[in-house]
Amino acid sequence: MLIVGVSGSPRNQATEYVLGQALDLLGQKGFETKLWTVRGKSIHYCMHCNYCLTHKTCAYQDDLQELYDLLSTAQGISFASPVYSGGISAQLKTVMDRTRSILATDKNFFRGKIGMGITVGGDRAGGQELAQMQIHTFYLMNGIIPVSGGSFGANLGANLWSKDTLEGVKLDTEGLTGTQKNR
Ligand SMILES: Cc1cc2nc3c(=O)[nH]c(=O)nc-3n(C[C@H](O)[C@H](O)[C@H](O)COP(=O)(O)O)c2cc1C
Repeated sequence: MLIVGVSGSPRNQATEYVLGQALDLLGQKGFETKLWTVRGKSIHYCMHCNYCLTHKTCAYQDDLQELYDLLSTAQGISFASPVYSGGISAQLKTVMDRTRSILATDKNFFRGKIGMGITVGGDRAGGQELAQMQIHTFYLMNGIIPVSGGSFGANLGANLWSKDTLEGVKLDTEGLTGTQKNR
């Protein structure tokens, strides 16, 4: 069973670190895992040109194509986002918006896959829960079965506090425990 982690951070810092930790834990449980990141990628945002509705592919053949190939074989997905302006990053939002082209070909592309969420904010309560809900809303809209860690620690998923640094997120031991609880 393949679980694909998608980091929505343009940096190799807290979000990518936490996602890596979560995937390592899943690997120890016997899952095959792959981490894909927006970092360093060329990704055009959706222009609502509707090219995909008639051509069944996106007008922009950029670095997102490799993610679509990965997602097509995944049974599990873990979107991870830094909190930007109280919600998910523009980069992760673009990943979501651009799936319009794969959904134009197969509206059941995501149906039945399992979805988890990870968010990392610089502030302790800087919008992590809203960012989680944006991730879970995408899951619900596409037939992805959302999972979390449930009560006592990771209610909506793993939400972390980085104090804006990689070192800071490593000190958020309570938040990191949330990655163990996502199930
Ligand atoms: C444009 C921008 C907006 C941000 N907005 C928020 C915010 O609303 N709430 C918050 O807690 N942190 C905010 N941050 C801080 C980041 O969430 C934090 O530094 C996080 O660790 C970044 O993830 P990274 O280390 O993986 O890059 C913002 C950072 C940037 C660059």
